[in-house]
Amino acid sequence: MIKTISVQQLKVGMYIEDLGISWLRHPFARARWLIKSQEEIKKIKQCGLSSIKIDTIKGIGVDPPTADQLQPPAISLATTTPLPKGAEPEELTAESLAALADTVSVQDEIIQVARVYNEFLIRTRTFFSQVQLGLPINLDEISSDLDELIKSVFRNRYAASALVKLKTFDEYTYTHSVNVCVLALTLGRFLNLPLPKLKALGIGGLFHDLGKIAISKKIVNKPGPLTVDELREIQKHPYLSAKLLKTSDQVSREVIECALLHHERYCGQGYPQGLRSNEIPLSAQIIGLADVYDAMTSDRVYRKKFSQHETLKTMYAARGEEFDPILVSHLVKCLGVYPVGSLVHLNTGEKGLVMDINDNDLIKPKILLIDQPGDVTRNGPQVFDLVNQPEKKSNEVRRIVGVDAPGKWNIDPARYLLDHHSFKPAVAFAPS
Ligand SMILES: [Fe+2]
Repeated sequence: MIKTISVQQLKVGMYIEDLGISWLRHPFARARWLIKSQEEIKKIKQCGLSSIKIDTIKGIGVDPPTADQLQPPAISLATTTPLPKGAEPEELTAESLAALADTVSVQDEIIQVARVYNEFLIRTRTFFSQVQLGLPINLDEISSDLDELIKSVFRNRYAASALVKLKTFDEYTYTHSVNVCVLALTLGRFLNLPLPKLKALGIGGLFHDLGKIAISKKIVNKPGPLTVDELREIQKHPYLSAKLLKTSDQVSREVIECALLHHERYCGQGYPQGLRSNEIPLSAQIIGLADVYDAMTSDRVYRKKFSQHETLKTMYAARGEEFDPILVSHLVKCLGVYPVGSLVHLNTGEKGLVMDINDNDLIKPKILLIDQPGDVTRNGPQVFDLVNQPEKKSNEVRRIVGVDAPGKWNIDPARYLLDHHSFKPAVAFAPS
C-alpha cells in the first residue's frame, strides 16, 4: 500500500516509492528502493523534503513491523507489476517511429527519458548480477526499456545523449553500459538505420563489456596504469562478452560482433583480431565510437572527465587512424559541435549553457546566458539563439570562443536545462 509519511518518520526497512522530486535533483541512482542504512536516510533528509511516499507492502510501514514485513523483498526482473488487460504497449514499428520523429523539445524529452534511463539502469545492474550467477540471458526482460529509449531518440535526437552526461553515478560499469546503448541508438537514428539494426545496436551497446564480470574487479577497477599481464587479461573481455552472449539463442550474430569487435580500430591497431576499416562491421564501429565518447566524458578514478566538445575534437583528430573518418564526422553532426549541456564562453565575455542545437548551423547553438556582464539580475536567465541575431557590426555578433570542462563553473547544468520554461527568449537582448 502506498502511504505518504513525514521524512522524520523514515526508518531502515522502508521502501521508497516516490521522493516527489525530479530524479536529476537527488543523489540516488534509483527512483524506488529499500532503505538499508541510516546514511541513506540522512541523504534523503538533506534533499529538503517534508513528506515522502513509501510502499508498505514492499517494505515496513510506520507501525511496528511484523516478522513477515522484516523479510526484504526478493529482487527479480519478473516482479514488475503486469499491465492491466488492453494496456500492453504497442509494438514498435518503423511507421510508429516515423510519426514520433522530432515532435518533442529537447528539454521536455530530457525530463521524459530520465525516468526510462533510471529504470533501465536498475534493470541492467540486476541483469549483470544474474548473468554473473550463471542465470540464462533473457532479452525479453530488457526489450520494453530498449523500445522506450528508441522512441526517445526519435522524439528528440539530442535529449537522451544529453541526459546521460547530466548526472554521474558511482557504478561506472552499469552506467557506461546504458550510456553506450543510448549513444549508439542516437548515432544509429542519425544514420537512418532500420529498426532491427537499431535494436541490435542497443543490445550490443548494453552488453559490449559484459565479459568484464568474468575478470578480477581489482584489474577492472584499478586506478593506475595496468601491467602487461593485467592489460592482457583485460583485453580478453570482448571475447568473454561474445562467449557469454553466444549462450543465448535470443542474441543475434550482429550483437555478438558488437561485443567481440568494439575495440577494433580503423587503422588495424585494435584488438582482438586487428581488423581494418570496412572489415569491422558498421555496428561494432558505432559501439566503439560510443564507448570511447562515453569513457572520455566520464569521471574516472585516475582522471577528471573531458568536456563533450573536447572529446569530439580529440576523436575527430583521430579520424582515419582510430575511427572511420566519415563515421566520426557523423558522430559530430549527430551530437552537435557543442553538444547540449556544454558550458561555453562568448566573445562578449558572457558565459552560456548550450540548450539546443541548430541542425543547419552546428557552431551556433541556442544557449542560456547565465553570467552576463554588468547587472546579472537585470533580465534574469535568457535563452539566446546564436543563429537569429539582429543585424550588427561583426564584432558585436555573439559567437562561441571557448568551452570549459564540466565542473569548472559552480553550476548544475541539469537545474538550468530542467527549469527552461521560466526563461525568456533573448533575441532583443544586446551585450552591455
Ligand atoms: Fe570494452
